[in-house]
Amino acid sequence: GRGVAVFTSGGDSQGMNSAVRSVVRMGIYLGCRVYFINEGYQGMVDGGDNIVEATWNSVSNIIQKGGTIIGSARCKEFREREGRKKAALNLVERGITNLVCIGGDGSLTGANEFRKNWSDFIRELVEEGKITQGVADRYPNIQIVGLVGSIDNDFCGTDMTIGTDSALQRIIECIDAVVATAQSHQRAFVIEVMGRHCGYLALVAALAAEADFCFIPEWPVPENWEEILCQKLQQMRQEGQRLNIMIVAEGAIDRNGQAISAEQVKDVVKKRLNYDTRVTVLGHVQRGGAPSAFDRLLGCRMGAEAVLALMEMTEESEPCVISIDGNQMVRVPLMQCVERTKAVQKAMDDKDWETAVKYRGRS
Ligand code: F6P
Repeated sequence: GRGVAVFTSGGDSQGMNSAVRSVVRMGIYLGCRVYFINEGYQGMVDGGDNIVEATWNSVSNIIQKGGTIIGSARCKEFREREGRKKAALNLVERGITNLVCIGGDGSLTGANEFRKNWSDFIRELVEEGKITQGVADRYPNIQIVGLVGSIDNDFCGTDMTIGTDSALQRIIECIDAVVATAQSHQRAFVIEVMGRHCGYLALVAALAAEADFCFIPEWPVPENWEEILCQKLQQMRQEGQRLNIMIVAEGAIDRNGQAISAEQVKDVVKKRLNYDTRVTVLGHVQRGGAPSAFDRLLGCRMGAEAVLALMEMTEESEPCVISIDGNQMVRVPLMQCVERTKAVQKAMDDKDWETAVKYRGRS
């Protein structure tokens, strides 16, 4: 059987375990030898016990768990050519030439670099006497498929990333809890949510939790935002609301590109309206806990599709990402997604908000 390895890289997210499980079982079902690479690229570079063969049973009872049971890490060595070459040796020794990388765009870009270097690495490893010509001939190239695991939903090319739905669910529960206490004390709350440079979680949570105001990076507030905000809060109070909820994405900025923090928003509300105002930073609770049914199913479907994609790849095939488009699993060229994600960042750096919002979409 063919050697397939699965690893998780970068920040963890709920539903990664479901994807790992699905890769393992689909691989075994199709007659492959499937390996876990523990601790992401670090495990690939270090080899040894970090690369272990998986069995059908080794992924029992993980679908309901948050995080990633095979560990994740950010790895400096893999960014260097020498580190990648060590990783290539560890893989080729075990006959692994198919990789499923579950991670964000940084991790997937790393995988692409690795693939480009592969044939040079194999040649050099023969020259250095580390592998035989026979081994080199059997594994002339490596195939890579990516799955996007991230709570941020910041990857262009898929409708949803694995983990976003669970994080959103957690955020909503937390906001509901805050609303209960805010209501009692007639308070205003500024809630900071994660998302790095992406405002998806903040925006969608604001809608679902009936917040009064929301700050996101892709649509920065205008210069007179303090006035607009306070007018809105006052209006809601006049209409009988006992509390106010404001959501601030951790990457929120103003039109000059200056960061807007939850503390800053709180100070504005206190100073201008004299409302009793508190800040709640949700932090890593958003990334932990049980995955939602949606993320479990998304992980399952993406994992299975990843293995099918690997089996159908030829020498010329470019790495692809499995994405959800509508309700379908589709394969999108990895580099196309990465380019587009970069284009969003560039548009934001250029303060071209219209383009940033447009490109955030899938198509
Ligand atoms: O990418 C996921 C994420 O949780 C972001 O929302 C956040 O900015 C970042 O990771 C936090 O990183 P760390 O876990 O390294 O503090």
